[in-house]
Amino acid sequence: MPEMKLPRHVAMIMDGNGRWAKKRLLPRTAGHKAGVDAFINIADTCIEMGIEYLTVYAFSTENWNRAPEEVSALMELMSKGISKYEPELQKRNVKLNILGDLSLFEDKYRNEIEGVRTRLSKNTGMTLSICLSYGGRQEIVYAVNNLLKSGKTEITAEDISNSLYTASMPDPDLVIRTSGEYRISNFLLWQSAYSEYYFADVFWPDFDKNELLKAFEAYSKRERRYGR
Ligand code: IPE
Ligand code: IPE
Ligand code: MG
Repeated sequence: MPEMKLPRHVAMIMDGNGRWAKKRLLPRTAGHKAGVDAFINIADTCIEMGIEYLTVYAFSTENWNRAPEEVSALMELMSKGISKYEPELQKRNVKLNILGDLSLFEDKYRNEIEGVRTRLSKNTGMTLSICLSYGGRQEIVYAVNNLLKSGKTEITAEDISNSLYTASMPDPDLVIRTSGEYRISNFLLWQSAYSEYYFADVFWPDFDKNELLKAFEAYSKRERRYGR
């Protein structure tokens, strides 16, 4: 492959699991299961390519409004998926971050996920951030409330950046959304102010290395101007 300018931080809205399943006359949860496999495959590829930060949107604050059976199936699949992937992440020196409000999770799932996060927290390779019970607006409110609690009466943009879940991370260079939907759905609202966007038509379970390379290739041809 010719030299290509890669994003330092790539973020992904993993959308389309339900429609992927529907197309195959399968239950939505089968789509989520296939989605976990696709996620592991894409994370492996990003590690191999030397991406520094990978951030994925797995469950939004609004996704709590789905049918209770779908929500529980997702909790089970996500926590099992993270546990299953832990040895590989450890071997590859990946640091795990969880962005979002895990307090809403059932204890057993929160403990399982927090355990993996803690055990991987000292690693120094790629930073993998999984957004769980995450909303961009809620994150900004959380940041501002923390600033108020610290006694600040006037805040700067930098204060807010430093109080978000992503405090120590650079902003995403590239945001990818699958499934042919052209919207943000409350993802990294503050951080994506100058991100490049790439929309793939395939449903998330079909997003593979080849699709990722197409996104990277498109990104490498973009000219970023930041208003200058
Ligand atoms: C993305 O797929 C996974 C989550 C939002 C949890 P969807 O479940 O949104 O699938 P579609 O968009 O209904 O096809
Ligand atoms: C965004 O997808 C959230 C995740 C991928 C986790 P949704 O399917 O929830 O978003 P909308 O409802 O299409 O905007
Ligand atoms: Mg969706």
